Amino acid sequence: MTDRTAPADHPIHPLIAARWSPRAFDETRAISAEQLATLLEAARWAASCFNEQPWMFVTARRHDEPEDFARLLSLLSENNQSWAWRCGALVIGLARQTFAANGNANAMAGYDLGQAVAQLALQAVAMGLITHQMRGFDIARARSELRVPAGVEPMVAIAIGHLGDVSVLNETYAAREVAPRVRKPQSEFVVRGRF
Ligand SMILES: Cc1cc2nc3c(=O)[nH]c(=O)nc-3n(C[C@H](O)[C@H](O)[C@H](O)COP(=O)(O)O)c2cc1C
Repeated sequence: MTDRTAPADHPIHPLIAARWSPRAFDETRAISAEQLATLLEAARWAASCFNEQPWMFVTARRHDEPEDFARLLSLLSENNQSWAWRCGALVIGLARQTFAANGNANAMAGYDLGQAVAQLALQAVAMGLITHQMRGFDIARARSELRVPAGVEPMVAIAIGHLGDVSVLNETYAAREVAPRVRKPQSEFVVRGRF
């Protein structure tokens, strides 16, 4: 496996540099209930607007909860299913769209869910696990199949597991697995003082 560490332009924490989104999961290795609980605990301690904690997570572990796992997997796009079926656990991240206290719209709900998922992803790296976030899933079907309550928005699917060998992937995905990791330079997104 080629080195996937982010070639950062400035020194960053090794945990951040080591996070990436593989598709080659090791299908033989399970995610335990304890591991998943720790990942969700990392999400739990994210910051959120007014400490609303608008995130929700629907989870299924492949080895121990095969029916639930199959239901979550079936929501993914065909392309995502083609590799994600090997992961140890699937999680759907959802965001409650209103504040519990007054019912007002919470414009920051998706932002807060994203922070929680970022923490989950870094916790996974610390535990020697991998994650791959996906927007490629059927939101309408997620609503019905997962009985999502009104006012809660399914936003992201997350595959969690152990890194496997690149040879399990088809040619296209195998190439992406070893392609250089790229980012825009800071000069394209950092504005000093004002636009
Ligand atoms: C919200 C979100 C949605 C994504 N959706 C998909 C997806 O449906 N399928 C996929 O293969 N990758 C998906 N990705 C992975 C991105 O392509 C990946 O994070 C990006 O290319 C940067 O690569 P890195 O995570 O390895 O640094 C998604 C990532 C995020 C954060």
